[in-house]
Amino acid sequence: MTISTTTPEAEAALHTMLTDVVAGLSQRRKTLPSKYFYDERGSKLFDDICELDEYYVTRTESALMQKQVGDIADVVGPKALLVEYGSGSSSKTRLLLSNLIEPAGYVPIDISGDYLSRVGHSLQAEFPHIEVMPVVADFTESFDVPSPTTKESRRVIYFPGSTIGNFPREDAKGLLAGMAEKAGAEGGVLIGVDLDKDRDVLRAAYNDSAGVTAEFNLNVLKRINDELGGRFDLSKFRHEAVFNDNQSCIEMHLISTERQAVNVCEYSFEFEENETVLTEYSHKYTIGAFGEMANEAGLNVKNVWTDANDMFAVMYLEQA
Ligand code: AVI
Repeated sequence: MTISTTTPEAEAALHTMLTDVVAGLSQRRKTLPSKYFYDERGSKLFDDICELDEYYVTRTESALMQKQVGDIADVVGPKALLVEYGSGSSSKTRLLLSNLIEPAGYVPIDISGDYLSRVGHSLQAEFPHIEVMPVVADFTESFDVPSPTTKESRRVIYFPGSTIGNFPREDAKGLLAGMAEKAGAEGGVLIGVDLDKDRDVLRAAYNDSAGVTAEFNLNVLKRINDELGGRFDLSKFRHEAVFNDNQSCIEMHLISTERQAVNVCEYSFEFEENETVLTEYSHKYTIGAFGEMANEAGLNVKNVWTDANDMFAVMYLEQA
């Protein structure tokens, strides 16, 4: 295979992507990792999803944060170092940063270095009194948290958006255990969790009528075509999100509308008519089930804030 790229890092990333794609499509039940939704186009499509009437998640969490931020700031306490996993545009964090009591610093962690550096600079200009220390890293791998100039009273890991729901349960537990360790005995974890709810509401949120989620899902095939020279005909795959009652999660699938073979580099993959490729999980928790998982990861639930309709929860966890 010859993939020509600009930098050794970009080349390594493409090889990893190819390895992941080949591994996923070679399984009996085909899968593709959801992290490959998010190139520039995919991130824009996700922003569009967040604006949809059917997608209640972002709206509900934002309103909840608006309402409870004073209380949350009191629980986090003065001089905390806020460490955000997968910070992206840090859009959800501005409210928190404006309300925290004399924060010792803000550490946004994201895999996209260029983007992170741009966001870091604009945040530093917006919040000159808060030390902003971006870290380019994959938060599922190991990384170091920098120390601020003013010593922090505690470290608080911030993981909004219910992104925890996109991890299989065992991985979510492992991630929480890693957060417990990073936060330390004095610290905490502030996390957004999408709650289990009416199946029709859930199905509509992930099968929106404007087809934006479909575009977002199909974007993974577009990326394989654009970046790995894949030969997917996007018109021969359709999007469907179903609710898996046993696992209490939305599963997003791409379904082959006909029998076909598709080449990616020197590999060829056969698809039966109606064969599906699982692209994403989005787990929905009860407060109790999430609390149990947190306990197994060495964390106790200290505070829970929910909206009036119990759609979404923001929780504060501490080491058990
Ligand atoms: C990022 N994550 C929390 C979203 C979710 O709801 O699971 C991703 C998403 N997939 C389809 N729509 C939104």
